[in-house]
Amino acid sequence: VTQLSPLENYKVISGPIVMVVMDGLGLGEDGEQNGVYAAHTPTLDGLFQEKLFTSLKAHGTAVGLPSDADMGNSEVGHNALGAGRIFVQGAKLIDEALSRGDVFSGAAWQKIVECGESAGTVHFIGLVSDGNVHSNISQLFQLLDACAEAGIERVRVHALLDGRDVAQKSALDYIRPLEERLRALSVSGRDYRIASGGGRMVTTMDRYKADWSVVERGWRAHVLGEGRFFSSASEAVETFYREDSTMTDQYMAAFVVVEGETPVGTIEDGDAVVCFNFRGDRAIEISRAFDEEVFQEFDRVRRPDVFYAGIMEYDGDAHIPRNYLVEPPLIDATLGDYLCASGVTSYAISETQKFGHMTYFWNGNKSGYIDEGLELYEEVLSDRVTFDQRPWMKAAEITDKVIEQIEAGERKFIRLNYPNADMVGHTGVPLAVEIAVEAVDLCLARLLPAVEKAGGIVVISADHGNADCMWTEKGGKRLPMVAHTLNPVPCIIKDFSGQNDFVLTDLAERGLANVAATLCLLLGFNPPTDYEPSLLKLK
Ligand code: 3PG
Ligand code: CO
Repeated sequence: VTQLSPLENYKVISGPIVMVVMDGLGLGEDGEQNGVYAAHTPTLDGLFQEKLFTSLKAHGTAVGLPSDADMGNSEVGHNALGAGRIFVQGAKLIDEALSRGDVFSGAAWQKIVECGESAGTVHFIGLVSDGNVHSNISQLFQLLDACAEAGIERVRVHALLDGRDVAQKSALDYIRPLEERLRALSVSGRDYRIASGGGRMVTTMDRYKADWSVVERGWRAHVLGEGRFFSSASEAVETFYREDSTMTDQYMAAFVVVEGETPVGTIEDGDAVVCFNFRGDRAIEISRAFDEEVFQEFDRVRRPDVFYAGIMEYDGDAHIPRNYLVEPPLIDATLGDYLCASGVTSYAISETQKFGHMTYFWNGNKSGYIDEGLELYEEVLSDRVTFDQRPWMKAAEITDKVIEQIEAGERKFIRLNYPNADMVGHTGVPLAVEIAVEAVDLCLARLLPAVEKAGGIVVISADHGNADCMWTEKGGKRLPMVAHTLNPVPCIIKDFSGQNDFVLTDLAERGLANVAATLCLLLGFNPPTDYEPSLLKLK
């Protein structure tokens, strides 16, 4: 990309531009079910009265998802924030590649079919739900049908249970139809079954190296056949519900399906393995475990010689995994690319759980620095707990570090993510959600004066909703809602420099993709012409 051109009539300001992403904090209906409304938030309440306050669409087509029935998520949200345009995202790309047949025309699918032809088993590992955040069960069904059509005789599914992007205890709504489908396909000499699984937060789907033991547990269940034995996946889920009435899907222990005492589908030399999650953050670690010759993260005990493919490429910098079925969205010319080309110093920070959101997702699913001379990325280590236990998370530590950077005065563009409203929102514990939102509010109360003192500008927004709906009501009963919402998110721009007179532009619709151009403007540049328009203009 080329250097950005300076904005005419812009008066240079002394302080930084600080972008705050309040992960999972949307604008929902007033009421006790809304954790943002219910929390005590004097700072946010004041910000919502600001002159430059607006709301942004953060779901569906505004972030490249198939339809407006799709809630937003952190990947698509941060992609849009960091790249200033709307890209067709994984969920839709895979749908299209399946219906057009592109999935089956490449070299990777050919390898999978060949493996089946030489008596290998084809394994599918992934999240079994229709959350459409990491995966979609309808895509798995199409892959299974294609296996049957290609004459593959033996297929095994390693089913990760969701309960986080969908209802907390909905596993059987997916597992039963999956078992049914596999049974129906198991004719004419075919043998298709679920072989293992487990709750996504304790099995396989760790992210950003927060806790490799999660991946190890998955490896042991899927590859080695170690875990609690059951005769079927639905029996596993039913048993877990029965033994502990508070158990929800995302935390269920790893399980292995056995016949007698023998696991029905360990992963062996000569097999093929497909990870059918399209989103990368939680698929990278298990992919590395299969792909890497030398591997220190845990003891694999046995590394089968398999053909491993992701349904997509998960990291465009590190090229993880080595093989994949569908090209990922090409998210190029990001704000980070432009700012580096223009010599702007920057700083990005969050705690582990969202660290990659502010770096990898923000930079278009590339994990490295763009220009290490100009950028600094910092990670505060997250606790390894379910975050209802510590709803304040590391918000204060993140704030400390940001204030340090503001005071040091060397970084022109600072971006940070407070994970609280999202990570606690996913636990479904109302009191904890309120405390999470209050923790963010308290930190903003410390952050704002620091930006003011430096004479900077702060932009406060979110990537999608979550805490803004903690439950829905049906027949007088509260049904916990742990997933993201379809609500818009706030966007507040508070200019403490007073150097320039910014006003909101008239736009038919405002969405997350309008933020990058806005940041260009606040930094004194003309936004790239192909970016979605800025939310502001100079008066
Ligand atoms: C997760 O991975 O935790 C959820 O599926 C989505 O949450 P995020 O999009 O907010 O990271
Ligand atoms: Co979330």
